[in-house]
Amino acid sequence: MKAEKTGATLLGLDIGTSGVKALLMDEQGRQLAEATSPLVVSRPAPGWSEQNPKDWWQASLQAMDRIAGNFPDQMARLAAIGLSGQMHGATLLDTREQVLRPAILWNDARAGSQCAELEAACPRSRDISGNIAMAGFTAPKLLWVRQNEPDIFSRIAHVLLPKDYVRFCLSGEMASDMSDAAGTLWLDVARRNWSDELLQATGLARHHMPSLFEGNAVTGQLKPELARRWNISGPVVIAGGGGDNAAAACGIGAVRPGAGFVSLGTSGVLFVSTDRFRPNISGAVHAFCHAVPDTWHQMGVILSATDSLNWIARLTGKDAVQLADAVGRSFREPAPEMFLPYLSGERTPHNDPDIRGLFAGLSHDSDSLSLTQAVMEGVAFAFRDSFDALRRAGTSIDSLVAVGGGSRSRLWLQMIATNLGVPIEVPAAGDYGAAFGAARLSLCALTGADPLQVCIRPPIMDIVEPIPSLVAPWSDKYARYTALYPAMKQVMT
Ligand code: XUL
Repeated sequence: MKAEKTGATLLGLDIGTSGVKALLMDEQGRQLAEATSPLVVSRPAPGWSEQNPKDWWQASLQAMDRIAGNFPDQMARLAAIGLSGQMHGATLLDTREQVLRPAILWNDARAGSQCAELEAACPRSRDISGNIAMAGFTAPKLLWVRQNEPDIFSRIAHVLLPKDYVRFCLSGEMASDMSDAAGTLWLDVARRNWSDELLQATGLARHHMPSLFEGNAVTGQLKPELARRWNISGPVVIAGGGGDNAAAACGIGAVRPGAGFVSLGTSGVLFVSTDRFRPNISGAVHAFCHAVPDTWHQMGVILSATDSLNWIARLTGKDAVQLADAVGRSFREPAPEMFLPYLSGERTPHNDPDIRGLFAGLSHDSDSLSLTQAVMEGVAFAFRDSFDALRRAGTSIDSLVAVGGGSRSRLWLQMIATNLGVPIEVPAAGDYGAAFGAARLSLCALTGADPLQVCIRPPIMDIVEPIPSLVAPWSDKYARYTALYPAMKQVMT
């Protein structure tokens, strides 16, 4: 693919959990180049999950350097950057704008008891935020820091989300967008503004928070020294962007009410765009702002999707992609073993940071392939739980588009389509995830284009239909899967 000589280019930068991805596109949305830089998660205590914000910045620089090295002409014409990133991570800075401790991530389970304390301190919490306080959200983590690391808490001058820390490094501005800000539990989600009441319940105030923007608004400019580093000739605007799920929705064209996607990334997400703020706390469904104005969304979140596959791959000493492919080739029927994918606890539907995973039904015949299949099925059943939670509250999903690394496995998509009873659409070759969505938002910020016109659906290459002969066997196995959570809960508490 070639960019026009004179045309501006746009870059989406996604600060994921397993890596940073930079994606360069032209004004027509054609993808020109991409680069990724890996990241690791540190788990210093059971249930903890942390990353060093400096590593996000180094990985961002590395990915952008690589694009600038391989595509210098296209990078020289860069006119806008859009950011997206893993949600909820607490990045704490002091008055000198130095990082105070490793960021506590979205899949960290330590702040369970602080959730109840927060809701007690602010009884209107669910009404204002539209969500149950969950351990992964940012506010309970801050309460944990206040109680367990009071010295650090007293030095906090700014709290940023992961992509917004990178924004700060790129532009010097402290800003966030509505979709990511909604995941802090400090946002009045209907009004798209910080809530003084919720901030106060955590011992914080508005001055600790970044300024708020819509995802398609300009939040600042790239620093001149960085523009020089990449030989960029003109000014570069930085767009608000979005939390990775809202940004992926922009990439896949899920911005109009009712449009949804299924994401098989480190986390698993079932996402539906809504025309207004529709909180639905039953079944731990999330209700957040979308990254485009006047739009909101609901989602079910599974904490360990490809993270579960990576875990079994690590355990068996195999490559995760090859393992999933091998299961795809050998698959005949549901595996005899069952797996609960609760390696980091679970959000939807249980909101339970303390629960852990489980293998059941092991035998002498169990091997790496049958266990991997059980892991993939367990994740598909977790999606079924989220689907039911959304449906029970009256949200209908008629079709879904697949995104995320795990969606390369056709069998995994078949498992999900069959369990949900919904066909899953697979986009044509290309990357339509969060980095692409962020790049699209940056195009809107640069040109003022309507995000509804820019964030359109990509061409669909394939539709994965439910497999009729497997509906009954998987329904039967799902019924047994759902019986395992209460049993496991009893054993663990
Ligand atoms: C959403 C969530 C995850 C992260 C993963 O609530 O916690 O999807 O955003 O990057």
